[in-house]
Amino acid sequence: MKLITSKVQIETKNYKLVISQFIKLFRTLLAKGKNDSFETKGKTFLTEQLMYFIRSDQPIEMILPGFPCKSPNTNSKVFGYLPDRGEEIALTNLDNFCKQVHKFYPPGCKLVIFSDGTTFSDLIGVDEETQEKYNTTLKNITKVSHIYWESLDSFFSSSNGYDALREELMSQYCSVTKQQVELQIQNDEQIRQTYQGLKNFLFQDNPWTDSNFPQAKKTRLKQSGEFAKIMIQRNDALTKLLSEKFPHHIRLSVHCHNNAGPKFAVHVLPNDYRCITPWHNVVVKTSNNQEILMKKEEAEKLPNTTLVKCHQQPWYFLQSSEDIWGKCELEIIKPPRTGIRITYQGNDNQTKPSCSCLNSETLQNLCLEYGFVVLRGFNIESKEHLVEFSSELGKPVTWDFGPVHTIRPKKTPDGYIASREAVPLHWDLSMPPSYLEASGCYEDFTPQFFILYCHIAPASGEGQTTVVDGRKVLENAGSAKVEAWKQVVIDYFTKFTYYGGKQRSYPLIMQHPITGEDILRYQEASNSNLQTFELDSKSLPQEDFQQLVAELQASAYDDSCLICHDWQQGDLLLIENHYMLHGRTSASDLTDDRELWRVQLLPHSLPQKSVSDFSKNLDYKEVA
Ligand SMILES: [Fe+2]
Repeated sequence: MKLITSKVQIETKNYKLVISQFIKLFRTLLAKGKNDSFETKGKTFLTEQLMYFIRSDQPIEMILPGFPCKSPNTNSKVFGYLPDRGEEIALTNLDNFCKQVHKFYPPGCKLVIFSDGTTFSDLIGVDEETQEKYNTTLKNITKVSHIYWESLDSFFSSSNGYDALREELMSQYCSVTKQQVELQIQNDEQIRQTYQGLKNFLFQDNPWTDSNFPQAKKTRLKQSGEFAKIMIQRNDALTKLLSEKFPHHIRLSVHCHNNAGPKFAVHVLPNDYRCITPWHNVVVKTSNNQEILMKKEEAEKLPNTTLVKCHQQPWYFLQSSEDIWGKCELEIIKPPRTGIRITYQGNDNQTKPSCSCLNSETLQNLCLEYGFVVLRGFNIESKEHLVEFSSELGKPVTWDFGPVHTIRPKKTPDGYIASREAVPLHWDLSMPPSYLEASGCYEDFTPQFFILYCHIAPASGEGQTTVVDGRKVLENAGSAKVEAWKQVVIDYFTKFTYYGGKQRSYPLIMQHPITGEDILRYQEASNSNLQTFELDSKSLPQEDFQQLVAELQASAYDDSCLICHDWQQGDLLLIENHYMLHGRTSASDLTDDRELWRVQLLPHSLPQKSVSDFSKNLDYKEVA
């Protein structure tokens, strides 16, 4: 008997802990208004709901109606009919919430998004094809693992089209007549406000086509009012459908509520705490690196703002502190977040602007987000200028030959770097000479960024710099595999070239020194006659290790992770060295003049020995 009592006490304690952790996390998602009742009422309501799942050790389930289709108002509200950065961040944010729950509650958390476009699309003037395109793109916009999709056709037959689906919904679930809605608008302040909001919204979104556009504003307002009443009825039916089909799910909403329950208002963007949706707005990344939503026409009026494109379509606005950004075109190279190209769009007759015109903080933020940045159409006058520009982004690593490494094929190369051969994947300064080793800790000597400047371009299609997004490799591998990889340490051997380094061992998965994220630290073997690069591991039996290496090779060279940068004269590449791996494709004798200048950058705050300090200890035998 005593034993049973103690078990119950322990379990109750665990319930309480899970509930308090969930509520703490849930507060970060809640959008709170003036008269918020979450702490006084909603918390109790939510606790009851949580107990249902936790008692039976089931995943906590939530449901959010939303993500219907883009507003048709592409003039002043949104970029177009397809999802963009707003939807991408919102889904990532909601999925991350569920991931966090999994950390303290192993059964985890699932979110059903009920894509409710069909319920209202005819009223806002969006046709079925447009809505379907939005939905299909939405489901592929970013990889999520805890989000599930439902819509009206999950419960009713869609073979007779969207009108039939809506009729089914209304006939089975709507309990208010139009007359009752009209009475509520007259007598209930909250309903009147909802009605007025919907009416204004419909009027602004202009659901009319050219052929049925009512000329008189009065007629359009009246029509908007009629549609708003139908929307209230349909919303009533939808709420009842969801309560019946998802009776235990925690009900989230993108609309304002007092959070007393059962509906909880959430903000879908992590840094924009309002009830505001990506399908009625565009994203602006502000100069302090916060992403917020606003109407497109407002964003267009902001100073020093430039448009970022993805998949050849407008994706979001980026704001910085200099007007030069307004003259640049920004394009994400491999969506969702590998590489971004900044191209100066000046007139050919004008002199190229100096790359120093670009704000270094914005460049660093872009590099952290996208792993690498290509700058095209900017001017670098000399190696000294490159060092000056680089110094804004970090503290240049000073080799015995200086901060700039000139990389070009030699007649008699002493290793693959100074040849026309391919360079295997690696990260910079993985094999440091003793004078650059600092304390010997990875974060003390490993550059966070490095810059490559193309002084003379190779022939097209060869001598490309290969960049692998280690974050994508880890994402593709999945968390279970990454956990297993954390047990692996790889030993690397190479003859001493200009690196001057010694044999080194690195865990396959390390932590980013600044963000703390898992990072992939894998270097590719080479059996070049000029210089071999060998891998071994004591963590695994030889056969298993070879299998792992084959798997890592295939993963790194997967099309979703790899970009081969085709150089143009004057290109600058800024690469984040912890997230990314890089190498080079081979070249023919057409590329004998390829010349890149490289500067590696440590964070400014880390101490580094000066040239005069290390020259005393320099072992020249180790440096080719
Ligand atoms: Fe390198």
